Amino acid sequence: MKSKIILTGGSGLLAVNWTVSMRETHEIIILLHEREIAIAGVTAEKVDIGSYEELKVVLSKYQPEIVIHTAGLTSVETCESNPTLANLVNVEISSNVALVTKQLGIKMVHISTDHLFDGTHPLLSEEIIPSPLNVYGFTKELAERKVLETHPQALVIRTNFYGWGTSYRKSFSDMIIFSLREKKQITLYSDVYYSPIYVNKLISCVHALISRDAKGIFNVVSDSRISKYEFGLNIASEFNLDTSFIREGLLAPNNHIVKRPLDMSLSNQKVSTFTGMQIGNVKDHIKLMKLQEQDSSTTEIQHL
Ligand SMILES: NC(=O)c1ccc[n+]([C@@H]2O[C@H](COP(=O)([O-])OP(=O)(O)OC[C@H]3O[C@@H](n4cnc5c(N)ncnc54)[C@H](OP(=O)(O)O)[C@@H]3O)[C@@H](O)[C@H]2O)c1
Repeated sequence: MKSKIILTGGSGLLAVNWTVSMRETHEIIILLHEREIAIAGVTAEKVDIGSYEELKVVLSKYQPEIVIHTAGLTSVETCESNPTLANLVNVEISSNVALVTKQLGIKMVHISTDHLFDGTHPLLSEEIIPSPLNVYGFTKELAERKVLETHPQALVIRTNFYGWGTSYRKSFSDMIIFSLREKKQITLYSDVYYSPIYVNKLISCVHALISRDAKGIFNVVSDSRISKYEFGLNIASEFNLDTSFIREGLLAPNNHIVKRPLDMSLSNQKVSTFTGMQIGNVKDHIKLMKLQEQDSSTTEIQHL
């Protein structure tokens, strides 16, 4: 029998990619909020995951082995302008998922972020104490603590990913590829660093962690510390796109409206050692992403 996984935030960029890449080997149920989507071979249910009772009913009905909690308020600007909503979605709902999964004896994977630090140091390990700069980072950090206090066996994944998005939810890499294909100019920051991972690599690393019964915090990122500008140049080079449409910009002089960290890069040493996996660098991952552009699963995601 296939092992059963429930994904919250079922219509989101990460959950859609997770669902499509894992539905052959796992039984997948996606929980939806406002946007209703249908993915072949997958059960979808609209549920208020902030409600203790509703969540308990749905998890008791399906009895999954794992809940992967991807739902979140992911717009940094929306979080800043509506901190109450950010707290509700990112903190309260995550705490509720942790409580119900703990009570029902279900493994929880909580998706966190690399946006937790003040951006003054590169390649941070899991032991460094977070120091968020904005409401998004603050709520995601508080969520991590509440999830682990409530459900100490939970697995918390700090990451930053890209990949093929849907018609309604474009990824950062989509924005670069589609803009350059349409010969539209884009500005990418050369003073903002991160260590992005291709979404399918992220998913396979998390499953490797789950199969080894990992718990606690793991950074799941690529081997590369790279600026957003360099990332764009790498994408353009692999996809044979004209780099003259990429303008180099700087965040630092404009970093006062919603303060963002200039360096979000994380170390992946812990996950590499724990799983024995070679995570790979951005160039290798982009090659993989290009190869997968023609796959029927990618087309399916793009048409959602
Ligand atoms: N994208 C990235 O590069 C990135 C980087 C670092 C960390 N992360 C983390 O990774 C996770 C997934 O990100 P993503 O980019 O896949 O997110 P996304 O595309 O923005 O999707 C967010 C999902 O959360 C759902 N949601 C929003 N409010 C909700 C509520 N009140 N109750 C239940 N569900 C709600 C949305 O449903 P509706 O659309 O129906 O409201 C949507 O399905 C998030 O936790 C994010 O913080 C993402």
